[in-house]
Amino acid sequence: MPHLSVEDLNLLFADARTYNGWASDPVPDATLRELYDLVKLAPTSANSCPARFVFLRTPEAKARLKPHLSPGNVDKAMAAPVVVIVAQDLAFYEQMPQLFPSRPLRDVFANDAALAADTARRNTVLQGAYLILAARALGLDVGPMSGFDPAGVDREFFGERPLRAEFLVNLGRGDPASLWPRNPRLAFEQACELV
Ligand SMILES: Cc1cc2nc3c(=O)[nH]c(=O)nc-3n(C[C@H](O)[C@H](O)[C@H](O)COP(=O)(O)O)c2cc1C
Repeated sequence: MPHLSVEDLNLLFADARTYNGWASDPVPDATLRELYDLVKLAPTSANSCPARFVFLRTPEAKARLKPHLSPGNVDKAMAAPVVVIVAQDLAFYEQMPQLFPSRPLRDVFANDAALAADTARRNTVLQGAYLILAARALGLDVGPMSGFDPAGVDREFFGERPLRAEFLVNLGRGDPASLWPRNPRLAFEQACELV
C-alpha cells in the first residue's frame, strides 16, 4: 500500500498545530489557487461541493471582518496573512447539473429543504476540514476559528446571497512562540469501538 513518509505524516498531524500568531510573509494568490485545486477533489455527498471560500488577504478586507470577531480572535486574525471564510452555499443544488451530470439531482435537493440544509452543512464542514489538511500539506500553518458573529459576517460579505459563514481559518506561516500547550486527545478505547 502506498504510504506517506513519517515526515509527511508529521507535517499533517503530529507537528501540525493551531497557531495564534503569525509571521508577516504573504501567501501568494497562486498558492490559494493551488490550495483550492486540492480541496475541490476531496469527497462530498453526491459531489455536492457546497462550500464557498472567501480569502481575505488585504488589510481592507480583514478590516471588514474585524467588528464581527470575538475579542480573543481579533489580534490573531488581523495578524494572519489570510483569513478564509468557509461558507455554505444554501443554493448549492443549482450547480448539481454540472457536478453530477449523470443524474437529475437538482430537484431532489431543491424540493427537500431539510435534506438540502443537512447536505450543505455536513459537506461544508467536511470541505473546511479538507482545507485545513490541504493547507498543511502545502506547508502552510492554520488557525481555525468559530468565535465570530456569523450573521454579521453574512451581512457584510454576502448581503442577499444565500451564503452562510460556517467557520474561519487563519492561514500563513505561524509564529511558534504563539503556540499554546498541546492538549491531550482521547485514547482509542475512549473514542473508538471495534465491532
Ligand atoms: C472549528 C474550530 C473552531 C475553533 N475556534 C477557535 C476560536 O474561535 N478561537 C481560538 O483561539 N481557537 C479556536 N479553535 C482552535 C482549537 O482550540 C484548536 O484547534 C484545538 O485546541 C487543537 O489545538 P492544536 O491543533 O494546537 O492541538 C478552533 C478550532 C476549530 C477546528
